[in-house]
Amino acid sequence: MTREEWIKLSAIIGAGSMIPKELLAAALVDDEIKRSDFGKDFVWGTASAAYQIEGGWNEDGKGESIWDHFVHHTHKVKTHETADVAHDFYHRYESDIELMHKLHIPAQRFSIGWSRVMPKGTGAVNQKGIDFYNRVIDKSLKEYVTPWITCYHWDLPQALQEKGGWMNRDIIKWFEDYVEVCAKNFGDRVKNWMVFNEPMAFTALGYLMGIHAPGKFGYKPFFSSVHHTVMSHGAGGRVLRNLVKNANIGTTFSCSVIDGWKDKEVNKGAVTRSDVLINRLFIEPTLGLGYATKDLPALRHVEKYIKPEDEKLMQFDFDFIGVQNYSRVVAKYLGLVPMLHAINVPPKKLGHPVTQMNWEVYPEGISRIIKQFAAYKGVKKIIVTENGAAFKDEVVNGEINDPQRIQFLKDYLKNVLKAKREGVNLGGYFIWSFTDNFEWAEGFRPKFGLVGVDFKTEQRIVKASGKWFSEFLKG
Ligand code: BGC
Repeated sequence: MTREEWIKLSAIIGAGSMIPKELLAAALVDDEIKRSDFGKDFVWGTASAAYQIEGGWNEDGKGESIWDHFVHHTHKVKTHETADVAHDFYHRYESDIELMHKLHIPAQRFSIGWSRVMPKGTGAVNQKGIDFYNRVIDKSLKEYVTPWITCYHWDLPQALQEKGGWMNRDIIKWFEDYVEVCAKNFGDRVKNWMVFNEPMAFTALGYLMGIHAPGKFGYKPFFSSVHHTVMSHGAGGRVLRNLVKNANIGTTFSCSVIDGWKDKEVNKGAVTRSDVLINRLFIEPTLGLGYATKDLPALRHVEKYIKPEDEKLMQFDFDFIGVQNYSRVVAKYLGLVPMLHAINVPPKKLGHPVTQMNWEVYPEGISRIIKQFAAYKGVKKIIVTENGAAFKDEVVNGEINDPQRIQFLKDYLKNVLKAKREGVNLGGYFIWSFTDNFEWAEGFRPKFGLVGVDFKTEQRIVKASGKWFSEFLKG
């Protein structure tokens, strides 16, 4: 008898109630996971973003985005590559969606390119851009792949950046207008929406550290962008609620569980401050908890951008929260570091394997962070809207064998299931990503896909992990 069968039997004969909930959950996930373990209504899919996959950067009336500008006018992408063509989803969406269907993938999360549908970000709408997303949506529905739309995945129209972008409070209105265009054009067929992809990532990398578009750095760009993004969260959510009938509205957050280096007392403050910046900064104002200035005093810099009426407008009653987790952060006190007074311990020192991104493989982290987010009053449901790993894949005899990615996905999924069994209302899981794509400042080097892409010939090769996921979904 397997452990699972034994536990089920004990539950039937009454002994199950004597097994502590955590033990029961841990034992149940010990065996090989199956799709059915997650229940009938659990959503499965893959995720992507417009700039990372589409290409066609200036075709059919599309305007320039900050990423187009960034890759053409700076040398900040390590490999000096651009996603002008990327994996050409703009022209190959039909065969890609057919491949999703063939692999039994029931849903795809993708983003709308703001400058494709509104070239200048505000005002005129580009009908050819709208037509493209209509074709993508219709083809997805035809292939039984449910479309999940992210309104903003980092590709702000450059014309808006020239007016200050997220640093300019007018963006709340520009964003509302843009979300309205999306809702009115796609909301009849698309019911699952996410307002933002990882606000922490695009504000910190793009407006604090200058390593992503638009390449700004410093407190002023960062804190102004943070507040206007928080305000746009609420504004975008309300537009969707008003315009899309029966909408399932969420948003997504990048998040990582934070541990203190060697569990030392001196690192406890570093853990708290890192937790605010990495995990709490954006979700708490949305839930009506405001900014966690007490735990991260540097957040007082955000206060000068807050107007008296803002507190209520920052809030929105999301139907689900998208958790995007890849790794863990181990924090160590270092007084010299501005704002956080902490550094991240290099993953290689932590004794676990690392991925091609140099991120620690830490599967337990996903169940812990899911539980951390689910514990907020006001969070109704969690969906894992991104999880996955980059490894150095190799094509051998026309095949890509990637056992590390399969193991990674299995181990993380076991921990997703653990969180579900421990009582979290968990509704879905999306793998990042369907195909290899443009990994922002890292260029095309990191391979995250279930499907490999030769970027010279655009040939697709389903990796062993893609075949594994397909079998898992079939099962
Ligand atoms: C982002 C993706 C990115 C992935 C891997 C997420 O933070 O949403 O755009 O490619 O992580 O780095």
